[in-house]
Amino acid sequence: MSAPLRSIEDLDLEGRRLFLRVDFNVPLDGGRITDDTRIRAALPTIEFAIERGARVVLASHLGRPKGERVEALSLEPVAARLAELLTSGEVLLTDDCVGDGARKVVGDLRDGQVALLENLRFHAEETQNDSGFAQQLARLADAYVNDAFGAAHRAHASVAALPGLVDEHAAGLLMIRELEVLDRLRDAPPHPFVALVGGAKVSGKLGVLEALMERVDSLLVGGAMANTFLAARGLEVGRSRVEEDKLALARSLMERAEQSGVDFLLPVDVRLGSSLEAQDAQIAEVDAIDSQAMALDIGPATTELFAQRIRAAGSVFWNGPMGLFENPAFAEGSLGVATAMAQAPGFTVVGGGDSVAAVCQAGLAAQFDHVSTGGGASLQYLEGHRLPGVEALNP
Ligand code: 3PG
Repeated sequence: MSAPLRSIEDLDLEGRRLFLRVDFNVPLDGGRITDDTRIRAALPTIEFAIERGARVVLASHLGRPKGERVEALSLEPVAARLAELLTSGEVLLTDDCVGDGARKVVGDLRDGQVALLENLRFHAEETQNDSGFAQQLARLADAYVNDAFGAAHRAHASVAALPGLVDEHAAGLLMIRELEVLDRLRDAPPHPFVALVGGAKVSGKLGVLEALMERVDSLLVGGAMANTFLAARGLEVGRSRVEEDKLALARSLMERAEQSGVDFLLPVDVRLGSSLEAQDAQIAEVDAIDSQAMALDIGPATTELFAQRIRAAGSVFWNGPMGLFENPAFAEGSLGVATAMAQAPGFTVVGGGDSVAAVCQAGLAAQFDHVSTGGGASLQYLEGHRLPGVEALNP
């Protein structure tokens, strides 16, 4: 169990410049925000700060501009969307996150006004956790609050070095909720505890698969990573994506599951396509995959098998899509498990960009107990790692 963190509710905010680190790293398509979940998730904390009379200085990264000013990664569309969502309807975007322009905008803020600093990652010092850069940010702040759970696993300046340089620091309402939910799953999950893991690579999810193996009653694996496990079982998977160098590891994970009595389920059927762009899917059982085909989604029997475990679970954690979700021909598996989770009576949590997108696209987010804004952060936390952004908030 992590030590209780100080909350934004414990700070005196009236008339003070509150540096509020948020995760506004939203998906963009040609300057248009395709999913504003992360902006909405930070609203309660921002509105709370406004109501308490803080002069709110929001800061976020967007994408990976690698220390260069990249106009396509300006926070301008985010500022516009946030202004639409805030009761006050006003957000002042600075030209840069440090320097005279930012200092002037922040210095002129009135109580309850909101400024958004331009993309922190336009400066390489942000990802380098540079203390000089953190000092410059600290000049804009009387108090610091971190609500950017999605970035808490990054030891970056605005997340790690900065809190210690500001007189007072605390966690935001979203950060606190995220940690409460994950603490529950990590330390006292209602049983049966079912984990549903998908996505492209076994390699990226190894740590979490190993950690989950110790805690879950059922581990359900879908997505492209399931192909590696199917191949490790000796099945022909055609032209499906397989990590050849992870086959031995997949085998040893399955052996461990068996030894520890974990109910480890792989797809029993799949949706096949001839290419990633294929517009229709053929359903096949996993022992009948055509040598020219690619398995791009779980099949209906698998969806039902997984749904049975989900419906019977005391708690369910889902990370990673069940198939090539961005192609509608291969989205049904992800939508199917999303629906099963939405209807399940247990404690349901989804984390990770694509699986969250599946839930939101299906309009099911409100029926989950928690939709985590952190993919990598939630996995690392569940694995038992300490997150730099959380550690830095310790009193
Ligand atoms: C995320 O999208 O997972 C967080 O915002 C962190 O972004 P990053 O992976 O670019 O550090």
